[in-house]
Amino acid sequence: MDSVITAESLAKRFRIYHQRSETLKEVLVDRRRSRYEEFWAVNDISFEVPEGQTFGIVGANGSGKSTLLKCIAGILVPDRGRVSVKGRMASLLEVGAGFHPDYSGRENIYLNGAILGLPRRYINSVIDEIVGFAELEQFIDNPVRNYSSGMYTRLGFSIAIHMDPDVLLIDEVLAVGDESFQRRCMDHIEGMRREGRTLVFVSHAAETVRKLCDRCLWIDHGVQRAAGRTGDVVDAYIGEVNRHETELLRAISADLGGSGPGWMGVRIAGVEMSGSEGEFNSIRTGEELSIRITYQAPEPLRGARFRASFYPAGRDILLSTRTDDAELGGMSLPPEGTVTLTVPQVPFLDGVYGLKVEIEDITSGRQYVEVDRPQAFRVQGGRRFEVGLALIGHRWQVPAADPSAVEVSATG
Ligand SMILES: Nc1ncnc2c1ncn2[C@@H]1O[C@H](COP(=O)(O)OP(=O)(O)OP(=O)(O)O)[C@@H](O)[C@H]1O
Ligand SMILES: [Mg+2]
Repeated sequence: MDSVITAESLAKRFRIYHQRSETLKEVLVDRRRSRYEEFWAVNDISFEVPEGQTFGIVGANGSGKSTLLKCIAGILVPDRGRVSVKGRMASLLEVGAGFHPDYSGRENIYLNGAILGLPRRYINSVIDEIVGFAELEQFIDNPVRNYSSGMYTRLGFSIAIHMDPDVLLIDEVLAVGDESFQRRCMDHIEGMRREGRTLVFVSHAAETVRKLCDRCLWIDHGVQRAAGRTGDVVDAYIGEVNRHETELLRAISADLGGSGPGWMGVRIAGVEMSGSEGEFNSIRTGEELSIRITYQAPEPLRGARFRASFYPAGRDILLSTRTDDAELGGMSLPPEGTVTLTVPQVPFLDGVYGLKVEIEDITSGRQYVEVDRPQAFRVQGGRRFEVGLALIGHRWQVPAADPSAVEVSATG
C-alpha cells in the first residue's frame, strides 16, 4: 500500500535561552559563554503511514510528541530530515491554534476552510454540521475570543473532521470536553477510519491509543524507543512507565514495618493500608482508603495524638491530619492498640505518594515516635482528565440549548 506520510530522519532542535545576566560580573563572564543551549526535541525519527491506517504516537510528557506532529503538519520546519504528506491534511494540534480571536466562530470556519483551499460552497454545505457537532449553535456568531477552552476545542475538532481531510492529525484533544463529546469524537474517528482516511493520533493515554491505532511509535526524549504493532509498543511503553513508578516507590519507601521504640518506649508496631497489594499498595482515586496504625507502649498512653501525613513523591505535604483534629486527642489509650484512619474517597490523582505516621505528646508537641521511613503507595486515577495532585470536588454549570441548565459535577 502507498505511504501517505513519510518521515525520514526527522530532527528538530530548540534553543533554551539562559536567564539574563544580572550583575556586572555575570555580564562580563557571559560574554564568553553562549547565551543559549540547544537540544534536540525530536531526533532522527523515521516512519511511514500507509493509506487508511491510524498511527499512534505515545511517550511521556515532554518527549517530543507534539513537536513531531507539528513537523508533520508543516507548522515547524525540521532542522534535519524530511517529511512528506500526500493529500489534504487537517489538524488539531493546539487548542485555539488557527483561530482569529476577533472573528466569530462562523467567520473562523470560513477562514479555516479557505486556508485548506476548500471552496466556499463546500463550507456552506457543511457549516450546519460543523456548528451542530461542536454544540455551538448559540455562540457561533460571537467572537471566539470569548469562548472557553472547551468551546475552542469542540469547534477546532469539528472543523478538522468536517474539512474532508485525507490525513487528520490529532494531538491529545480527546482529553477535553465532556464524556458525551468525547464519545462522539471517538465514534467520528472510528467512522473516518472506516472511510479509509489516514490518521495520526498523539496521546499519553495508552489505552486510547491501543483501541484506536493500527501501528504506533513510542518516543522518549525525542528518540524512537519502539515502533510497530500497537499492542507491542503500548505494552513496552506501559511496562516502562510501571517500572519507573516502581523504582520511585522503592526509592522513597522502606518495608511496611513499624519503628523501634522511641521516647518513653512508645513504638509503632505496624502500619497497614487498604488497597490491592502487590509489591506496593495501590488504590484508585475515589476509593476508600483505610490505614491501621498498631502501637505499643510500656504503659497507657495519655495525652497522645496520632498524626498521618500524605505527600506526593519528592514534594511537600499534601495533607497532615491528627487525631486531635477529630477531638480524639488527649484520650487515654490502652498500652497496645490500633488506631484507624479512614479516607472515604481518596482525592489524590494519578501518581506515587508517601505516608508518614507519627505519635506525639499533645501538651509538649514532642514526638514519641515516627515510622522510620514513609510508606509509599500508588494511586491510579483511571479515566479522569483532571491533572494535579488532588481531586477537589467541583461542579460546572454551562448553558444548554434547552432552557434548563446542564450541571456536571465531579467528586471522587
Ligand atoms: N518552541 C519551543 N522552544 C523551546 N523548547 C520547546 C519548544 N516547544 C517544545 N519545547 C521543548 O521540547 C520538548 C518536547 O516538547 P513537546 O511539546 O513536543 O513534548 P510532548 O511529548 O508533546 O509533551 P506533552 O505530553 O506534555 O504534550 C520539551 O522539552 C519542550 O519543553
Ligand atoms: Mg504535547
